[in-house]
Amino acid sequence: MEFDLQEYKSAWKLEEGVHHCNHGSFGSVPTIVQEAQRAIQDRVQLNTVKFFARNAMNEVQDARAKVATFLNQKAEQITLVRNTTEAASTTMRGFPFKAGDEAIVLDHEYGAVMYAVKRAVEAAGGKMIEIVVPRLATDEEVVALVEAALTPRTRMFVVDHVTSATARTFPVQALSDLCRERGVAIAIDASHTPGNFELDLDKLDADFWFGNLHKWASAPLGCGVYRVAVRWHGAMRPLIVSWQDHENYPLPWDMLGTVDLSAWLAAPAAIDFYSAIGWKRVRAANTARMRYGRDLVMAELGVGKDDLREEELPLGVIPLHKMDGGRDGCIALQRRFAEVHKIEVPITTACNQYFMRISGQLYNTPADYEALVAAVRKELK
Ligand SMILES: Cc1ncc(COP(=O)(O)O)c(C=O)c1O
Repeated sequence: MEFDLQEYKSAWKLEEGVHHCNHGSFGSVPTIVQEAQRAIQDRVQLNTVKFFARNAMNEVQDARAKVATFLNQKAEQITLVRNTTEAASTTMRGFPFKAGDEAIVLDHEYGAVMYAVKRAVEAAGGKMIEIVVPRLATDEEVVALVEAALTPRTRMFVVDHVTSATARTFPVQALSDLCRERGVAIAIDASHTPGNFELDLDKLDADFWFGNLHKWASAPLGCGVYRVAVRWHGAMRPLIVSWQDHENYPLPWDMLGTVDLSAWLAAPAAIDFYSAIGWKRVRAANTARMRYGRDLVMAELGVGKDDLREEELPLGVIPLHKMDGGRDGCIALQRRFAEVHKIEVPITTACNQYFMRISGQLYNTPADYEALVAAVRKELK
């Protein structure tokens, strides 16, 4: 068995003796991109005053413009942020929730984002409503469930493009259209989107959209993108107040005090790395790796294809037998795979079930997944 682009394994420097099957959680940065980031940090240290006082703003704006081009956007349509957690908090903090308002999330929602929604809507005297969506629900069923949950009190709907725990997509265009028709703001958590989808964010026209470049675009850690629709530019402010606070979106976000800006400035190097190979080919190669591993584990556990929603994604889940122990049980099982079997693979929980979530990235070889299935045989049968 040979994977396409297997020669790129050496483009990463990863801990040896470990099978890295969890790109989805925190990404992993190719050496060439790490070097680009280090070169920026070294250059800053040669003369910090020159960098921060005279050059940083222009360099950030240049990096923002390159990231925007990658996302088929104009520079002024996006800001750079540290991550989607920050963008979600910014959105919820700035959103004009009032007493009696409702914000809807799905039961697949990422915990940190769900807490940001809950805190903001409850602080205003409103409430968060969680809708139960069966894991294998079709796109049409999802839209119908959301439509049925909208009430005259609904102000915001928050949804993942790709979910974390269940690794499924939600039909964000149809949901965005529905929300616009019904006068409800939509916030789309697109943490896994950049690099995995061709984007038309203008057509999507979400009120708030945030994605991570440090996941599937392999930018250095701390590189997120935050797009706010023009109609909300006046309401949204960075969580940290700094010198550009009098400016309009997106300028206030460009520099929030003295921080290491190298992750943003090196993001174009990551985009160039994959662009040189071809994003389409990278996506296909990653998806093929994930499917190889997933199918091996499914066969081992006797999980059928009817228990699966096939997606064109480099991450996928295998439902495990129902287990007691909640989140602690997940953490313990994940730790056994890591410490006993030297396999980094997340065990997630959602919809009252545990899942094993497998990622595919160019550094994965068939041996990673063969080791995984051998560990599954010992731990889960
Ligand atoms: C769906 C989803 N939302 C939000 C996040 C948070 O990302 P970050 O920690 O980079 O803010 C993640 C990270 O895995 C995620 O999968």
